[in-house]
Amino acid sequence: MQVVKYAFQQHGDDRGMLIALEEYKDIPFKIQRVYYMYDTKAGVHRGFHAHKKLEQILVCIHGSCKVLLDNGKGEKKRISLEKPYEGLYISNDMWREMYDFSEDAVLLVLASEPYEEEDYIRNYEEFLDFIAQKGEIY
Ligand code: TYD
Repeated sequence: MQVVKYAFQQHGDDRGMLIALEEYKDIPFKIQRVYYMYDTKAGVHRGFHAHKKLEQILVCIHGSCKVLLDNGKGEKKRISLEKPYEGLYISNDMWREMYDFSEDAVLLVLASEPYEEEDYIRNYEEFLDFIAQKGEIY
């Protein structure tokens, strides 16, 4: 299972740092939604879902957090996000959990779709069935 992490171009000078993200250039999809999580309480785990269609890129623009990715075929990866210039790409059909948020963590999400509850798979058994059924088509 391949984990795709982007290293965004940093525009740094003696004033500080700046990162600019453009769709289809720095981000491989049209950005239809941006949201961010902050003030995440200690010990909290979030996510616990997959998307049928949506792709996203996670950027921990302040602080740090971890992400568990699970492809539903027995492969899991744990990734640390702790740099504002790193973006974790998450494809559709991927179960994700976010955890170990530092107190100051701000997790930015760039998403390829608007918010649509029908695109979510929130039940893990259902996710495994969904992946298994897809596998049979090919
Ligand atoms: P939720 O899906 O529980 O977040 P996570 O998967 O990270 O644990 O979302 C929390 C709340 O925010 C829930 O009431 C739905 C709402 N929400 C929106 O209205 N729009 C959005 O784009 C997202 C991601 C969530």
